Amino acid sequence: MKKSIGIIGAGNIGKTVAGHFAKAGFPVLISNSQDPKTLSETIAFLGQDAKAVTPAEAAKADIVILALPRSEVPNLSGLIDWNGRIVVDATNHFITYAPDFQVADLGDLASSQVVQQHLSGAHIVKAFNTIFFKILEQDPHVGKGNRVLFVSGDDQNAKEVVSQAITEIGFAPVDLGSLAVGSKFQQAKGALATLNFIKIG
Ligand SMILES: NC(=O)c1ccc[n+]([C@@H]2O[C@H](COP(=O)([O-])OP(=O)(O)OC[C@H]3O[C@@H](n4cnc5c(N)ncnc54)[C@H](OP(=O)(O)O)[C@@H]3O)[C@@H](O)[C@H]2O)c1
Repeated sequence: MKKSIGIIGAGNIGKTVAGHFAKAGFPVLISNSQDPKTLSETIAFLGQDAKAVTPAEAAKADIVILALPRSEVPNLSGLIDWNGRIVVDATNHFITYAPDFQVADLGDLASSQVVQQHLSGAHIVKAFNTIFFKILEQDPHVGKGNRVLFVSGDDQNAKEVVSQAITEIGFAPVDLGSLAVGSKFQQAKGALATLNFIKIG
């Protein structure tokens, strides 16, 4: 049976990621900051395997995907008991957008390590954050290859569960190691941010 996918944030990235999971037959629970009824058009687009819910309901799915502004993550701390939950951090720690794209000063910590601090006990996997949504929404099968999605995390089981789901929606997961090391390459201003790789074979 396919894992349930809970998505917190129903904008560009949330809808794009939801689209891939819904198409592959995963039960998708998607939420925004308002009444779930405001997501009726999104649900019509995603189809019968998707449901509009509150963030707290989305947070109880097998795999929870953070697709909201990074500045909103501290507000999720008390949403549920995060202990042991598998949480995909698709956020980027921008504090301003075009034209200057400044990022928060996090000292030596990776952005996902700070997310980890806010969601106590959650198993954070960094993924889905490196590619612009207009590219991410395209078919992940490209020529004889598959579009790469990088994954980083400190819990091996969580990383394997997320990587399996990524494979099932047609992308090629590439494990970069821990949050302290791998996710820094992925995050905004990191060496892999915005790059679009295709894995052949
Ligand atoms: N856009 C990209 O190409 C891209 C690529 C990689 C990563 N990212 C990252 O992905 C995240 C989302 O970006 P986006 O472009 O999808 O933003 P967006 O289009 O502005 O969508 C943000 C979504 O988050 C929801 N939201 C805000 N606060 C919330 C809260 N407290 N609880 C639940 N939902 C909340 C908003 O709901 P309402 O509509 O109700 O306000 C909206 O649905 C950001 O961290 C961004 O850096 C974006």
